[in-house]
Amino acid sequence: MQKLEVSGANKLKGQINISGSKNASLPILAATLLSDKKVYLNNLPKVKDIETMINLLKSLGSITKFNKKNLIIDNYKQNKKFASYNLVKTMRAGILVLGPLLAKFGNAKVSLPGGCAIGTRPVDIHLKSLSKLGVKYKIIQGYVHATAPKGLIGSKIHFSKISVGATENLIIASTLAKGTTVLNNCAIEPEVKDLVNFLIKMGCNLKWVAKRSLKIVGVNQINETSYSVMFDRIEAGTYLIAAAVTEGNLKIKNVIPKIIQTEINILKKIGMKINTKKNEIHIIGNKKIKNINIKTSPYPGFPTDLQAQIMVLLCKGNKKSLIKEDIFENRFMHVAELNRMGAKISIKANKALVEGNTKFAAAELMATDLRASVSLILAALTTKGKSVINRIYHLDRGYENIEKKLKKVGAKIRRVN
Ligand code: EPZ
Repeated sequence: MQKLEVSGANKLKGQINISGSKNASLPILAATLLSDKKVYLNNLPKVKDIETMINLLKSLGSITKFNKKNLIIDNYKQNKKFASYNLVKTMRAGILVLGPLLAKFGNAKVSLPGGCAIGTRPVDIHLKSLSKLGVKYKIIQGYVHATAPKGLIGSKIHFSKISVGATENLIIASTLAKGTTVLNNCAIEPEVKDLVNFLIKMGCNLKWVAKRSLKIVGVNQINETSYSVMFDRIEAGTYLIAAAVTEGNLKIKNVIPKIIQTEINILKKIGMKINTKKNEIHIIGNKKIKNINIKTSPYPGFPTDLQAQIMVLLCKGNKKSLIKEDIFENRFMHVAELNRMGAKISIKANKALVEGNTKFAAAELMATDLRASVSLILAALTTKGKSVINRIYHLDRGYENIEKKLKKVGAKIRRVN
């Protein structure tokens, strides 16, 4: 099992280039199943989850190969409809192949993803909404057996709860359905918008008709397509917080600042100096960190995927801060580890009360999920001693070259077996 050794307390200085978005790449990769033509995808991040999704596509019969810049996916022979548990269990977004397989073949057998450290992660909204397109499904031994005897038929669907994955699954499924589908109460995360832009490029007919409403008219022709995936806004937010927590001075490149305006505004309120250019954010940390209360919510609110990271920063605030986790039922797994480093964080239901003025102390730590692991790195970067972070396979699922990027801006970090 690999570990990370991290010794602070250098101020991070320099420039970090942001990679492509994991959470935009995953639904876009699933959507390539709709096509029987070649798809060229650029700017995919080299992270474990993307590798797993590509393996899942290959298990379904896709032919994939990397040339220097692009992943080329050819589905002219793709005809399998079975997504196995051993691939879907490690990467929950595997459920996103259900929509395209039903759209293309009218039947599919896809493993339920199961839960993870942050919650039970049900897919009831995906399944209930698909049944509105004429899908019949049964759950047998952990697999969804789904069929659409008359093919998918366009319909009007209102999501009972804002769900990124359910929105993405239904968008993809509706693109080949007969007639028109209107999806209401959609998630509007930038990654959902990136998926829509990709599908339009593939020749599908989609239009945002209101803030959270999308109209999709089924097509039966898909073009050969090339597409470059958007930047990873959670990676960008993570490095902004890394600069803030180490009183550093970082330039974050390959980003669209307005997409993370909520995060930028909050960091400014906490006391950071931030200037933005077209594709760059320049942040200068501040010794004095103000406290602030934060609630995670669907986009454009503060993202749950940055909750663990901002918690580390607020530990160094001048007063108490309250963080409310409104998206997942168990996303405070990082708190116990941060408290072992000297933080004083108490949890009551989905609220964490964070004492300020924490001086973190180095410790041996355990990562539990992707974003919790990176919050441990942030805390370790602020303290002189050497911390050791175990189970960093969580980290490798979603952060491309994190040690290299951090080392380049002055962090003392190395991976040991
Ligand atoms: C996506 O997960 C992201 N993953 C998550 O990022 C992110 O935290 C989440 O959206 C929220 O923004 C990918 O895009 C691959 P949801 P998803 O459906 O789609 C409940 C990361 O760290 N729900 O919007 O699974 C669900 O339990 C990951 O990169 C149902 O009840 O999230 C949760 O409480 C972690 N029934 C809430 O809705 C359903 O059928 C939001 O989940 C679906 C979801």
